[in-house]
Amino acid sequence: MDESRIHVMIDEVSLQNRIRQLADEINHDYQGKELAMICVLKGGVMFMTDLAKYIQIPMTMDFMSVSSYGNQQVSTGIVKIMKDLDNSIENQHVLIVEDIMDTGRTLQYLKNLLADRNPASVKICTLLDKPHTRVVPVKADYTGFVIDDKFVLGYGLDYEQHYRNLPYIAYVE
Ligand code: PRP
Repeated sequence: MDESRIHVMIDEVSLQNRIRQLADEINHDYQGKELAMICVLKGGVMFMTDLAKYIQIPMTMDFMSVSSYGNQQVSTGIVKIMKDLDNSIENQHVLIVEDIMDTGRTLQYLKNLLADRNPASVKICTLLDKPHTRVVPVKADYTGFVIDDKFVLGYGLDYEQHYRNLPYIAYVE
């Protein structure tokens, strides 16, 4: 990738401020409950770990790995489970933590899959939402930023597996 094409979209301070606000909302909404946070690898990993630091209610973490894109930049609609949860979510308040909702296929599939396992509730928290590219009617319960239909990377999001380590969200021109 010609790195002159990469531009900052959401800087590190703005990201962290918004993540703190989301955590405040979650702490408020789940008062008196225990939260089972489920990170969708790999993209969700930075968001999950930062968000979790601000959660002040009892919580557990588990990880799932799914693949929908392969190495392409467009969604195929095929969601493959590469790694399932380690623990049961029966009777638990599940919060799926994702980096981005694009076509919505991944989160729709995951939400239905987890809802079938008899949790007490299942909600979605996505850092980024691209509503203009949605093809299935899934909605997030918590959204960090609504963005335009640009190719984004950084803070968990990749371009051919690279750039996930950037502490900000960037777009490619
Ligand atoms: C990305 C992202 C979401 C999904 C969103 O994952 O992390 O899981 O695509 O797209 P959708 O709304 O169109 O389904 P990807 O398959 O690229 O895997 P990764 O998280 O390991 O990068």
